[in-house]
Amino acid sequence: MNSKVPVLAIDGPSGSGKGTVGQILAQRLGWHFLDSGALYRALGVAAIRERVSLDDKPTLARLATSMDIHFVPRTDGGAAAVLLHGEEIGDPLRTEESGRLASIVAAIPEVRQALLQKQHSLRQPPGLVADGRDMGSTVFPDAILKVYLTASPEVRAQRRYKQLIEKGFDVNLPRLLDEIRERDARDAGRVVSPLKPAEDACILDTSQLDISGVVERVHGLLQERQRPG
Ligand code: DC
Repeated sequence: MNSKVPVLAIDGPSGSGKGTVGQILAQRLGWHFLDSGALYRALGVAAIRERVSLDDKPTLARLATSMDIHFVPRTDGGAAAVLLHGEEIGDPLRTEESGRLASIVAAIPEVRQALLQKQHSLRQPPGLVADGRDMGSTVFPDAILKVYLTASPEVRAQRRYKQLIEKGFDVNLPRLLDEIRERDARDAGRVVSPLKPAEDACILDTSQLDISGVVERVHGLLQERQRPG
């Protein structure tokens, strides 16, 4: 691992704004961006395509090890294309169903272990903004700054609703809220790398903030950390 390369770790539950904030900051800083959730989502998609049962932990772990996954950044700063075995996954990666599958496979310790090396390999100069659930607590414990973004489930469901409607998906708000609560419970209740702030993380409740407000706060914190002395 290239431990001299600075990492900004942004963790938090689904809909906390971490993906959008992370992408904007990565672009502003000229750093790489790791959307670690996309790795778990891609594995869920791969499992369904290859008809692997979600109960078959050894096969899922093998699939995670052999999965050939690449992120191709977009020049417009939008979410990177995710290639699975050379082919872009596209919309199926972003559905609530793929989030649910991701959360199930992510609870398997061998899967998390298998995806660790991939995440470490993305730590490249001049820096990495890493977004997920355990970036600060487990994957990059030496991150220069660890931020944990949170917001009430209602606010997060509303945000997801807006995002998904804009992308043309057919969604139902009360169902989305139930799914968010269910996914939070699974992600926070698992034994390995549960969803919780790293001990040295700065916790930011974004319920009352818009995206640019969060971006400026996090950027300000990062600049403080980077100041010499
Ligand atoms: O961030 P996301 O919604 O794309 O993540 C999808 C699921 O993947 C999430 O419910 C839990 C899992 N995940 C994880 O366990 N660890 C990460 N670092 C990122 C995501």
